[in-house]
Amino acid sequence: MSLTILAIESSCDDTSAAVFQDGHILSNCTANQDVHEKYGGVVPEVASRAHQENIVPVVHEAIRQADIQTSDLDAIAFTRGPGLIGSLLVGVSFAKGLALSLDIPMIEVNHMQAHVLAHFAEAPKPKFPFLCLTVSGGHTQIVLVKDYLDMEVIGATIDDAAGEAFDKTGKLLGLPYPAGPVIDRLAKAGSARFSFPEPKIEALDFSFSGLKTSILYFLKKELKTNPNFIEENKHDIARSVQDRIVSILMNKLKMASEQTGIKEIAIAGGVSANSGLRKAVEETGRELGWNTYIPRFEYCTDNAAMIAVTGYYKYLKEEFTDQHVTAVARWSV
Ligand code: KG4
Ligand code: ZN
Repeated sequence: MSLTILAIESSCDDTSAAVFQDGHILSNCTANQDVHEKYGGVVPEVASRAHQENIVPVVHEAIRQADIQTSDLDAIAFTRGPGLIGSLLVGVSFAKGLALSLDIPMIEVNHMQAHVLAHFAEAPKPKFPFLCLTVSGGHTQIVLVKDYLDMEVIGATIDDAAGEAFDKTGKLLGLPYPAGPVIDRLAKAGSARFSFPEPKIEALDFSFSGLKTSILYFLKKELKTNPNFIEENKHDIARSVQDRIVSILMNKLKMASEQTGIKEIAIAGGVSANSGLRKAVEETGRELGWNTYIPRFEYCTDNAAMIAVTGYYKYLKEEFTDQHVTAVARWSV
């Protein structure tokens, strides 16, 4: 019997819908919200309003591209949290309404669990147990993944997320939001000749706020003697910052692999689109005999395909939710 799931993701500033059928993603459509660029970050109320505008066209497009009818749907999976509450409410309410009108079950999905399970959208798929470094604009975690729905966070940031470190540095450099992809591009033509300190944080936890402060003081000092310092050195600054963020992430990932003895290593979340991080994971993997798993770009940043895949594994376990469900801003994996 065929199984078809529609998935909705609206946790931050991307409105996304995907259709999953019999183990395959048939469509994965995302509307990005450029409107936040001029504010230098995501403005929650603006994000909610944009979700409300985008959600119907995005779902239509996902269904059209998948070449199915809504009557083919067996379930609706949706992001319940964590995320911006006003953004989540749009997706949760939409899922409720559609599930009610089609009289099909709903499946609530944890956004962070879904970033990890994005690895099961297509081959090659990691084998259990594996470690997943989940790095996004809101989270930085090392997750020990024992099974599809059995995960444990063994390390996390104590302050900023890795994506925030990229975005806040970008702000200091006068770059548009989100700055991660821009720094990535600039860094390609730069050399890491500026040195920023690596924080000394216990165990498998991370910290990025000190890095931001040291970059701020460094820029202030240099700008005093040369007002054009940023413009003249933007490639090298970008490369130096990126290399430091990547080395902080890699050192903890290596430590986690050593401590657990696990050599199945995956990365997920928006920052896993970073070319420096992808290269470092591949190189370290070759050195240390890891099997590494790096998703395609469209499965790194926020997307509904990962919600659909997670929804599928919950469907198999009949983990359905009812119409009383509410969105949650905080929710650990
Ligand atoms: O997972 P995601 O799309 O949304 C959240 O759940 O946060 O991650 C967005 C974050 C932003 O901070 C963005 O700057 C960062 O991912 N990002 C990157 C790159 N592409 C996106 N950071 C560094 N290099 C990139 N290529
Ligand atoms: Zn995310």
